[in-house]
Amino acid sequence: MGRSLIFASILVLSPAIVLTLTGDNPSAVLVACPNITIYPGNAVMPFGSVLATDDPLTVGPEFTSEIIGNAQGLTVLDSQHELSVVVYLDFGFTRGEFNGSSFGVFTRNTITVACRELAVVGGRGKFRMATGFAELKTYSNSGDGNAIVEYNVTLFHH
Ligand SMILES: *[C@@H]1O[C@H](CO)[C@@H](O)[C@H](O)[C@H]1NC(C)=O
Ligand SMILES: *[C@@H]1O[C@H](CO)[C@@H](O)[C@H](O)[C@H]1NC(C)=O
Ligand SMILES: *[C@@H]1O[C@H](CO)[C@@H](O)[C@H](O)[C@H]1NC(C)=O
Repeated sequence: MGRSLIFASILVLSPAIVLTLTGDNPSAVLVACPNITIYPGNAVMPFGSVLATDDPLTVGPEFTSEIIGNAQGLTVLDSQHELSVVVYLDFGFTRGEFNGSSFGVFTRNTITVACRELAVVGGRGKFRMATGFAELKTYSNSGDGNAIVEYNVTLFHH
């Protein structure tokens, strides 16, 4: 027995996310680190590291771009063999039409691949019952864990 859903709207968003691991005010901090020394790829921390993340979400890829929300959650270095993470992040908006609403991403993120896709698995507020995907492009990467990434998000929501 099945149930079909009729999607009322399709939303395409293209904000950027700014990740900083260094500096006085990092947006991701290491909360757990294993007692091993496997560094997949050129990772700056070992396989199994867990980071608490609160990255600003901006309208554009500059450090000065307007902040419209944040992505909060966990980033886990989950690959033994390559530099890749699994992210459990809630993308919340603090401005505009979607102020107070958020969508959730639970997916692997092959961060060294230039163009990659993430799964959107749900949402709150205006993004209730959302499903979709995000196409990511790394805009800049300093190599020490700091990066600006463009998220082109396509959502089906009510
Ligand atoms: C891991 O823990 C063991 C036992 O405490 C210690 O002997 C070893 O040096 C640790 N290894 C690393 C890489 O820290
Ligand atoms: C966003 O929503 C919060 C909570 O409802 C409200 O306090 C705030 O003023 C809103 N911000 C903007 C820019 O609309
Ligand atoms: C965002 O993704 C949609 C759907 O894949 C595509 O049609 C659109 O051109 C993309 N926009 C940007 C700015 O990359």
